[in-house]
Amino acid sequence: MTKPPLRTLAETTAWIYDAGFIVSNPHTRTYATANASFLELLRSLGGVSTAEHDGGELRVRDATITPFGDGLLGDPTGLDRAALAESPPVVTRDEALTLAERLFFAVRDEEAFTAYLDRRKNVLDRAHRGDLHQNVGEHVLLNLRQRSVDDWWVDQKFTTDRRGPKEGLYLDVQWAFAQSYFTQERLSGKRVLDFGCGPGLFSRLFAARGASVLGLDTNENHLAVAEELAREDGLEGVAFRRLELPPEVTLRALDETYDFVFLSDVLMFYFHPYDRSLDLDPAALLAELRRVLAPGGTIAVLEPNGTFWQQPWFGAAGRPFTVVTEYRHRRYGVTPTLEELSRAAESAGLVLRRVRELIPATPNPDDLATGFAGEFPVWWYFELAAS
Ligand SMILES: C[S@@+](CC[C@H](N)C(=O)[O-])C[C@H]1O[C@@H](n2cnc3c(N)ncnc32)[C@H](O)[C@@H]1O
Repeated sequence: MTKPPLRTLAETTAWIYDAGFIVSNPHTRTYATANASFLELLRSLGGVSTAEHDGGELRVRDATITPFGDGLLGDPTGLDRAALAESPPVVTRDEALTLAERLFFAVRDEEAFTAYLDRRKNVLDRAHRGDLHQNVGEHVLLNLRQRSVDDWWVDQKFTTDRRGPKEGLYLDVQWAFAQSYFTQERLSGKRVLDFGCGPGLFSRLFAARGASVLGLDTNENHLAVAEELAREDGLEGVAFRRLELPPEVTLRALDETYDFVFLSDVLMFYFHPYDRSLDLDPAALLAELRRVLAPGGTIAVLEPNGTFWQQPWFGAAGRPFTVVTEYRHRRYGVTPTLEELSRAAESAGLVLRRVRELIPATPNPDDLATGFAGEFPVWWYFELAAS
């Protein structure tokens, strides 16, 4: 049986760089460096034109990498920028077509391609591309040969001693915001619940600014580190406790109320858990957190921005741009949309009191990461209060 012909997809995009063109399918975040003849070859597969490719010398090279090497706030583009230093090699027409098909610039069956973009059904499923959790799981298992995704989430954020965030946007944006926002004035004498505290970075900040803090986390290793670091810092008034899932039982056993309930990079897991076997409900969690709020208390949610986090970083640092391929149907991001967040808060009897979109305190004009984050905030911060 003959295969159906290859057709170039409508979303296949190209832009100029020093040595030719970067070709991409933005939905799969696959890239190649190529010359004009390769673009001409793709155009000839477009189905619109009957023009044959002109037969000129074809140059093309796969320029796709896994974006998770620098963590979840590293460059999410998936473009191998090192490949831009050289011209792509000469290839045969067959090799060029094979590459165009492998990188999804052209496909034989558009319906099958659309289905491919879905979540994986199980760990062995290679017929689907998978979402961020599934792709990270694969990266951790196959590239890093580690078993625990839970540990990786913390590894990719913190320095090896777990004292602070690594260089990059965690440090320049999230940590810079927290240090300037959570002042002594705001926190002194307050009771804070740090829900999903990890190794206790924010718990220690709040305690150092005069709050009494309880950190809860599901992971005992992170709690042990949190305890040790708080002890090393000689901090008083900070304690850590294991959180069982679902969280209602642990939260109902608390006998205090809190002026601040703080969640950093954790509420998102109640919308898109990385362990699908857990039945987590964001509205139920928020309702329980509301119950432990002191009168006038605040639930403070700091997490990656539901629109801009995980969007590719393109252009120059001073004039960055991105290509948005998703908002409601998540493949690359795992944060809630504004509406999902709002609905969960509404049904928990909470109102939104404050929104901040975090940008770098000191953008570096030569750095694409801070340039991008200065224009497209990659975190947002919400304060919720009882309605
Ligand atoms: C990305 S870390 C963030 C840690 C800390 N809040 C921070 O921002 O530095 C996510 C934390 O959430 C914890 N976690 C994972 N699933 C959770 C859940 N369903 N409920 C509460 N915490 C969870 C993990 O153990 C981990 O410590």
